[in-house]
Amino acid sequence: MTDEEQMPGAQPETRGTRGVERVTIPALKLRKQTGPKIVMVTAYDCVAARLADRAGVDVVLVGDSLGQTVLGYDTTVPVTLEEMLHHTRAVRRGLRRALLLADMPFGSYQVSPEEAIHNAVRLLKEGGAQAVKIEGGQPFVETVRRMTEASIPVMGHLGLTPQSVHMLGGHRVQGQDPEAARRILADARALEEAGAIGIVLETIPAALAAEVTAALSIPTIGIGAGPDCDGQVQVWHDLIGLSQRTFRHARRYAEVGTQIENALRAYVEEVRQMQFPTREHSL
Ligand code: KIV
Repeated sequence: MTDEEQMPGAQPETRGTRGVERVTIPALKLRKQTGPKIVMVTAYDCVAARLADRAGVDVVLVGDSLGQTVLGYDTTVPVTLEEMLHHTRAVRRGLRRALLLADMPFGSYQVSPEEAIHNAVRLLKEGGAQAVKIEGGQPFVETVRRMTEASIPVMGHLGLTPQSVHMLGGHRVQGQDPEAARRILADARALEEAGAIGIVLETIPAALAAEVTAALSIPTIGIGAGPDCDGQVQVWHDLIGLSQRTFRHARRYAEVGTQIENALRAYVEEVRQMQFPTREHSL
């Protein structure tokens, strides 16, 4: 795609320096009324970001899932702000049209609203993120309010919140009993009222996600939350067959992991058999 070409479905908002219509936060909000559904995917490096951008993805999330997908941690808990900054900068370099959203890692916003603002400012200024995402409901409403007042766009994240894995006792479906469902709905309303730009709903019953979506004027982005959210988010490695894990809520659109392994096996074999390089590869 050339710089001058527009992605189908782009909402005219801000014309970037090279003529590409950038996705903006007001444009995402509008999509709740007008459609089409918002498409979000995680990316952790420049190459992945460029591919997602060219494919027409609306929002690229530098998720703290990078802890498991890229860095080899067991959970998202150990991910640091410096690691998030490093990957956010790399993703920034690959994007032209998509909005760049960065996760605030565990420990970077829980202590106080002041610390949350300080760390989010780093993700915006040094990382080039346009918005940040934090996990949790009621306890973080004041933080979202203060960040919004400081002109930091914040997306909420409710349901299965992986940074609380130890409290939750694992990666389990949330919001299944009426009290838990009521709390998620109340949290979503409170986050909207505090100024959140949208809410990720992870691993909750589809009916609850539909109820939350209908109750809000900001977009909901689902992962394992059924088809009625205003958009969907998936983890890069799960989408293209690069992860070992399989989820009921994910679909593998390619088996890139197998292709890479086969390519590398062929390379190993050809070097050992002295079939590569040939004379044509010589300078
Ligand atoms: O870190 C992440 O990838 C996320 C998505 C699962 C929404 O938060």
